[in-house]
Amino acid sequence: MTGQVRGVQLARLLGQWHALPGRRRSPDYAALAGSVRGLLADGRLPLGVRLPAERELAEALRISRTTVTAAYRQLRETGHLASRRGAGSWTMLPGNHRVASTGLWTPLDDREMLDLGVAALAAPPQLLSAARAAAEDLPRYLSGAGYHPTGIIELREAVADAYTARGLPTSADQIMVTSGTQHALDLVLRLALAPGGTVLVESPTYPNALAALAGRRARISTHGLAADAGWEPDLLLGSLRQTRPKLAYLIPEFQNPTGHLMPASLRERVVAAAHAVGTDLIIDESFVDLSMDGTEVPPPVATYDRHSRVVSIGGMSKPYWGGLRIGWVRASAPQVQRLAAVRVGVDMASPVLDQLVAVHLLADAEAIVADRRVQLAVQRDALLGALAHQLPEWRVTVPRGGVTLWAELDGPVSSALARAAEEVGVRLAPGPRFGLDGTLERFLRLPFTLPAADLVEAVGRIAAIRYDLDRAGRQRWREPAVIA
Ligand SMILES: Cc1ncc(COP(=O)(O)O)c(C=O)c1O
Repeated sequence: MTGQVRGVQLARLLGQWHALPGRRRSPDYAALAGSVRGLLADGRLPLGVRLPAERELAEALRISRTTVTAAYRQLRETGHLASRRGAGSWTMLPGNHRVASTGLWTPLDDREMLDLGVAALAAPPQLLSAARAAAEDLPRYLSGAGYHPTGIIELREAVADAYTARGLPTSADQIMVTSGTQHALDLVLRLALAPGGTVLVESPTYPNALAALAGRRARISTHGLAADAGWEPDLLLGSLRQTRPKLAYLIPEFQNPTGHLMPASLRERVVAAAHAVGTDLIIDESFVDLSMDGTEVPPPVATYDRHSRVVSIGGMSKPYWGGLRIGWVRASAPQVQRLAAVRVGVDMASPVLDQLVAVHLLADAEAIVADRRVQLAVQRDALLGALAHQLPEWRVTVPRGGVTLWAELDGPVSSALARAAEEVGVRLAPGPRFGLDGTLERFLRLPFTLPAADLVEAVGRIAAIRYDLDRAGRQRWREPAVIA
């Protein structure tokens, strides 16, 4: 990545760096360096960006230049900064640290395991009747060959109608049905990204999207989300303008894993900035139906698109059932035709029977989705209650939708915790799986897709091993560490 962070932007990210807990005895330069390391460890400040010149940062922070010089020197010594005279200083991590981000595949072999690695609900009760009704419909299709590369017309119409109802007029020829949202992402990447192309993603983000990008050998840059506030508009727009990526992949509704919801104003600005620099946007709407607490979801990002820059992807997995494997792409009609041409080289078409099941579920969407929202709100609240009770040091921002919360732990122990949790029958997805380069060790994604009693039980087991990790003589955390 070749971006640059300006003095005022870094100052905003650093926030109250001079007043951080536990820094009373450390000099200003050490506190400043520690805060920069913290931003790197949390994925808020990407790797490989150029930091502001010392004078510029000193002015933005209203401190002396010598303090910044000493902080940069310390960052160089600890391996967090590489400098070249006359050219500037770039962020890095010590020892080229990397973790594999291979997704979160979980075998369903161990029924005793409380699986918090997968953020998806069990099927709704309406699924069986939808499947029976679909079987009744099947004869209508049996006289044809059954290949529909863009999907059966009934389903494309139902999906298009749902977009239109959200305020984005859409026709069936703008929809292509896929085998899940993940498949939709892969197809769009095949069409839109040459191997080695540049892509901007959020950090943290959905690990299997990173896996799809790795499959295209994408060169990835990140926009770090703030744990409590989500996207930082100036930084996000700045990253787009500076790095001019070929693509940006964003999850604006109840982002996985943080649960943040992108406001309408930022949606509009992102689309305008993307168009200005020639970036195409892949907007993953996996969680758009799952708002809670009466939270209103802003208009779809594609609403602000006048130049076919936005490709939206979504699917049935989160509101309905992952086992259906039904997703879709919404794009311009010519783009859909091009996607269909790519698709015949991959899997030809989606199963007709499953698409018919989806049609029946969508016909009953209002009732099913209303139930899901209630169920998720109850489970979320049970999880929040258990965390407040058992792990009060952990900080969480209450998500107003989606299926996950992003807990900020009391130390960089996420991977160690996940390893220990397996021993007590809890499967966890540790923070680093949601980022690049082994950052995000202070975070843990917790889905609230299991029944409330299971969530409470899981938190109890996690709390027990959390305190065991300390008793086992683990070094107490003094400042943000990085290594998983
Ligand atoms: C943001 C996001 N995109 C895509 C997917 C994959 O969805 P599907 O099961 O429809 O392929 C998920 C599943 O967790 C997700 O969270």
